[in-house]
Amino acid sequence: MKAKERAIEVRGLTKRYRGSRSAAATTAAAVDRVSFSVEAGEIFALLGPNGAGKTTVIKILTTLLKPTSGTARVAGFDVSKEKDSVRRSIGIVFQEPSLDWRLTGRENLDFHARIYGVGQGDQGDQGGERRGSGKRRRVREERIEEVLKLVELEEKADEVVDKYSGGMKRRLEIARGFIHHPKVLFLDEPTLGLDTQTRRRIWDFIKELNAREGLTVVLTTHQMEEADYLCGRVGIIDRGRIISLDTPRNLKDLIGSDLVSLELEENSGGYEEVFKRLDFVTEFREHDGFVTLKMERGDLRIPEILEAARQEGLEVRSVNLRKPSLEDVFLQFTGRRIRE
Ligand SMILES: Nc1ncnc2c1ncn2[C@@H]1O[C@H](COP(=O)(O)OP(=O)(O)O)[C@@H](O)[C@H]1O
Ligand SMILES: [Mg+2]
Repeated sequence: MKAKERAIEVRGLTKRYRGSRSAAATTAAAVDRVSFSVEAGEIFALLGPNGAGKTTVIKILTTLLKPTSGTARVAGFDVSKEKDSVRRSIGIVFQEPSLDWRLTGRENLDFHARIYGVGQGDQGDQGGERRGSGKRRRVREERIEEVLKLVELEEKADEVVDKYSGGMKRRLEIARGFIHHPKVLFLDEPTLGLDTQTRRRIWDFIKELNAREGLTVVLTTHQMEEADYLCGRVGIIDRGRIISLDTPRNLKDLIGSDLVSLELEENSGGYEEVFKRLDFVTEFREHDGFVTLKMERGDLRIPEILEAARQEGLEVRSVNLRKPSLEDVFLQFTGRRIRE
C-alpha cells in the first residue's frame, strides 16, 4: 500500500508480555488498547512515568516487538506486515546508548550511513559499493558533514567518542538517527540523565531538525517540561493507557485555574474539611505531604488560606502558587505524580 499523509496511525494497540511476573489471570497489559495518530511534520510525545508502557509502544512502532493485538502504521506501512518498509522509513534513538566508543564521531556516522545506503538513491538498497562509488562516497560525506553541523559537532568529529561528554554522545546518536533521511524519527527518553543546559540544547536542536528537514518526531519522556517545550501534541500515558491527548496548552487548560500548594508541618492528611470551607476553593487534593487547592486568582487568596490554616493550628512550612503544568494534568487524571 502507498504511504499516506499520516506519519503514524495506531489503533487499539495492546501488548501483553508472556511469562510476566504476576499471576497469569491478573497480568495487566503493558500497553492497553492505545490509539493515536501523528501527522507528518509533527513533534509528538508520549509522556508518562516509569513503567507506563512508552518504550513498549516505541518498540512496536519500530518493528522490534510484535503487538498482542491492534494495528499500527508508520509512514503508511503496517508494522506487522510491512516490516522492511517501516524500517526503511524510520530512525531510532534508544534509551541506552549504542555508539561505538572506540570510533570517532565521523566514523560512527559513516558506518551507519553505509548500512543505510546513504548516497545510493534508494535508501533501502543495501547493495555493494561497486558502481559509481566515488559519487556515492561524496554524497555520503556531504551528508555526514551536514548532520555534524546541525548537531554542532564538526569540531569534535574526528575525536573518539569515548572522549565525548554525555551531551555530545547524545547529539551524535540523534545525528545518526536521521542521517539516512528517515520520514519519522523515534527518540526514547532523548535527554535522560543530561544536565539542564545540555537538555535545552538538545531540545532546540530537535526543533530545528523538525523545522529544517520536515522530520516527524515521536519521542517518549517522563519530563513534563520536555513534552511541554518541545511538542505540538502530547499523549499522557499511564499503566499502558493513554489518559489524555492534546496540545500542551489545551491539556493545561483542562486544569484552568491557579494551584496553591501548602506544605504542612506533620501532614498526616485529612485536611479536606479545613480547606473546603473556603468557598473560593474549587478543588482539593492531598499528595506527598502537600495540600493542593485549585482556585481563581490564587495570588489574592493566599492570605485567607494562611489565616484559615492558622485558625486550625496548622503550621505551614511553605506555600507555592503556580499555573497548571502537565504534571498537574497527570495528577488530576491519576491522583499520582509522574515522578514518584
Ligand atoms: N521484556 C519484558 N517482559 C516482561 N515485562 C516487561 C518487559 N518489558 C517491559 N515490561 C513491563 O511492561 C511495562 C511497561 O514497560 P515499558 O514499556 O518499558 O515502560 P516505560 O518505557 O514507560 O518505562 C512495565 O510494567 C514493565 O515492567
Ligand atoms: Mg522506557
